[in-house]
Amino acid sequence: MPTWDTIDHDVLVIGAGGAGLRAAIEAASHGVSVGLVCKSLLGKAHTVMAEGGVAASLGNVDDRDSWQVHVTDTLRGGQYVNNWRMAELHAKEAPDRVRELEAWGALFDRTSDGKILQRNFGGHRYPRLAHVGDRTGLEMIRTLQDHGVHQGMDVHMEVTVVSLHKRDGRVCGALAYDRERGRFRLFRAKAIVLATGGIGRAFAVTSNSWEYTGDGHALAYHAGAALQDMEFIQFHPTGMVWPPSVRGILVTEGVRGEGGILLNSEGRRFMFDDIPEAYRTQTADTPDEGWRYVTGDKEARRPPELLTRDHVARCIVREVREGRGSPHGGVFLDIAWIKTHLPKAAEHIRRKLPSMYHQFKALADIDITTTPMEVGPTTHYVMGGIRVDGDTQMSSVPGLFAAGEVAAGLHGSNRLGGNSLSDLIVFGKRAGEHAASFAKESAALEPDAGEVGEAVRECLAPFDRPSGENPYAIQNDLQRMMQNQVGIVRQEGEMLQAAEALRELEARARRVGVTGHREYNPGWHTAIDLAHLLTVSEAVIRSALERKESRGGHFRDDYPEKDPASGTINFVVQKGPDGEMHVRPEPVVGVTDELRRLVETFK
Ligand code: FUM
Repeated sequence: MPTWDTIDHDVLVIGAGGAGLRAAIEAASHGVSVGLVCKSLLGKAHTVMAEGGVAASLGNVDDRDSWQVHVTDTLRGGQYVNNWRMAELHAKEAPDRVRELEAWGALFDRTSDGKILQRNFGGHRYPRLAHVGDRTGLEMIRTLQDHGVHQGMDVHMEVTVVSLHKRDGRVCGALAYDRERGRFRLFRAKAIVLATGGIGRAFAVTSNSWEYTGDGHALAYHAGAALQDMEFIQFHPTGMVWPPSVRGILVTEGVRGEGGILLNSEGRRFMFDDIPEAYRTQTADTPDEGWRYVTGDKEARRPPELLTRDHVARCIVREVREGRGSPHGGVFLDIAWIKTHLPKAAEHIRRKLPSMYHQFKALADIDITTTPMEVGPTTHYVMGGIRVDGDTQMSSVPGLFAAGEVAAGLHGSNRLGGNSLSDLIVFGKRAGEHAASFAKESAALEPDAGEVGEAVRECLAPFDRPSGENPYAIQNDLQRMMQNQVGIVRQEGEMLQAAEALRELEARARRVGVTGHREYNPGWHTAIDLAHLLTVSEAVIRSALERKESRGGHFRDDYPEKDPASGTINFVVQKGPDGEMHVRPEPVVGVTDELRRLVETFK
């Protein structure tokens, strides 16, 4: 007989990165009981990989900045398939959320007159990223954790959720197991907030650690919620490429924000070769630009290394493919060159980029104050996720909310760096608040015991096949397939092959087997994670096949241009009554005349 313990909360928050912590803090402050589930240890979250800063139009370094400029930058970066309402709320509320963090103890770098310092980042018109050296995400997590532990929430560490349960169409529980003993827990809750982050582990080269297997995306999908924009994957332009054991680890955009330049094997600053029209004509408007933006006879009005991430990543791929890459298949990122105009440059680099300095010293034996780094694209973020109401963050399943990377909409086809951290605190707060209200207005419902028992049996089934398929082998094959056939540059033939290969992998996953017992058994955990990875990979492939154009984090060799008709739609993925995955176009939401006027004004 399958068995489990039962735990009750009014609001259950699944995921304890920035969005989950902020949602839990908010829900608890509304007087409901809150449970916070972390797949790993509290504090270990992909949030810390947003190193370079949190975007908010504080206007401390350039007082021309405003929420109006921020929202138009976000929409332009996302190429207008964003949820415009979310982009508006985000731009308006981010400054207050950052000041709130400061009040809760976050120690931001300061301007000479004592304000929160802000730096340049890709696609942001003005220096907008409040930062703590290159450890901003870490400081945010530390602050939220410190604040959160005093709010009276229950934290469930090293617990993985495997299924959501509904009654009368409303979400009412989540089944999970603890890694330590392999025992099952049923969380009964009146409202659930998913804040599980991304799907990076579906790809071979990624900045994401082992936890990011698309759990929230898959849980929501199987519970009947709609997903959207799953074709839009962000390949951050700069991950480490050497040595092989560290391939994919993030090299913060903050390096380029501090003046780092990209060079090919000929020593040429290749980003000047392809500056999109929209950026070529932009008015020169940052105070320190002269030294950065001119090379030879070419000129750009902003440092071309700080064009949007999708564009920079593709330019790097082009250099490598055309034989101008670095020895290990990347390009060079040089921050040491700032010594040509900055006294005490080495000291400056070590102070502004301490993690990068230590990361390269320890992992690659390179001193970045004297030597260029080898870098290349790494899968960093998924813009796609659970389709939510912009104001409340509720999904199409009543009582099920989502915030942060697992939710879609804010970033459209491409996220601007730093907009992730502000996303977490703006929409984490909103999700927590609305989940608490929902819980207060709702009675507790009992998940169906038969359904829960079936889910437990399914999780344990790999133990009945000790000589079944190896879960790591399936995961590896999936990652390589997604990287090679559904990666930075896509085309129909390869994606159809990927769809076919996915069927094979699903069949192998049904035969997956593990040995040993349930205590700390990573093979078993990988077998369970596989189901989520396969679901999200199918959603990515099917959406990418539907979008017959190139936009943001979705570039197709066979449709290299933008299609204006596709610029007003999102592709929505949902499980049909037949149990199959269906993809449909839906019009972009939240477009208002006021926002249209702003976009025109700041074009
Ligand atoms: O490059 C970075 O520091 C990453 C920031 C982000 O993804 O927002």
